[in-house]
Amino acid sequence: MGTDGVIVGRGAPILLLTGAGVSAESGLGTFRDAGGIWSRYDLADVATPEGFARDPALVQGFYNARRANMLAAAPNPAHRALARLQAHWPGAVTLVTQNIDDLHERGGSHDVIHMHGELSRALCAACGHRWDAPAEMHASDACPACGAQATRPDVVWFGEIPYHMERIETALARAELFVAIGTSGAVYPAAGFVSEAAAAGVRTLEINLAPSEVADAFDAHLLGPASEVVPDWVERLLAG
Ligand code: OAD
Repeated sequence: MGTDGVIVGRGAPILLLTGAGVSAESGLGTFRDAGGIWSRYDLADVATPEGFARDPALVQGFYNARRANMLAAAPNPAHRALARLQAHWPGAVTLVTQNIDDLHERGGSHDVIHMHGELSRALCAACGHRWDAPAEMHASDACPACGAQATRPDVVWFGEIPYHMERIETALARAELFVAIGTSGAVYPAAGFVSEAAAAGVRTLEINLAPSEVADAFDAHLLGPASEVVPDWVERLLAG
């Protein structure tokens, strides 16, 4: 079956990796595009454990604002198409996202692997307990399990280890097709998945508005907005 240069058999295991570009057309900002989140905030202040230790209220405010944006946003055709692929492809479709929003789930996907955590979850830094985050979190919130005032968003910050790496590595080793969608290839370990896949003989496809920082490592590219390119690609794959 041809997917613009990438050949996979019907039912072959697929690993999808998504980034901020998949949610861009839902109105959630990306990080590194012009006017992106990292042009307005200092990453060291709001996305590191040291930043949180210095000013927890600032960090909670940053994620409260992002959670409010997420709750006001709706999934777009790219999220829905990937859910359709998971539902109808006769093989495994593992969906790994760097996004902390819940638009894949609201778009109909199941079993989404959030390697950078989730805005909708809270974590106690003292005892490790996790629970559903309220719309607004505060530095003084007490953990419902141990009572410590060490509540943080359950997101992965720079300097911390991404979640579910073993599960992702296993799925990557089993995949026959790796597809990265709307991610700049600037943040590791996710940015390294394409070279790992290529080294293991897995076919690789990049879907992005423009070639990413690791574009050369992919076998094929589909360029354009995710809300158009992803549904087209999924329909062609399912029809093949
Ligand atoms: P970036 O902001 O780095 O990259 C977004 C990518 O999406 C770029 O390659 C854009 O070209 C592409 N893009 C933008 N709009 C698009 C559209 N409508 N359709 C398709 N592609 C589009 O976001 P990520 O790669 O997700 O981590 O960033 C990776 C990590 O860096 C994030 O998870 C976050 C951030 O710092 C942490 O905070 C730990």
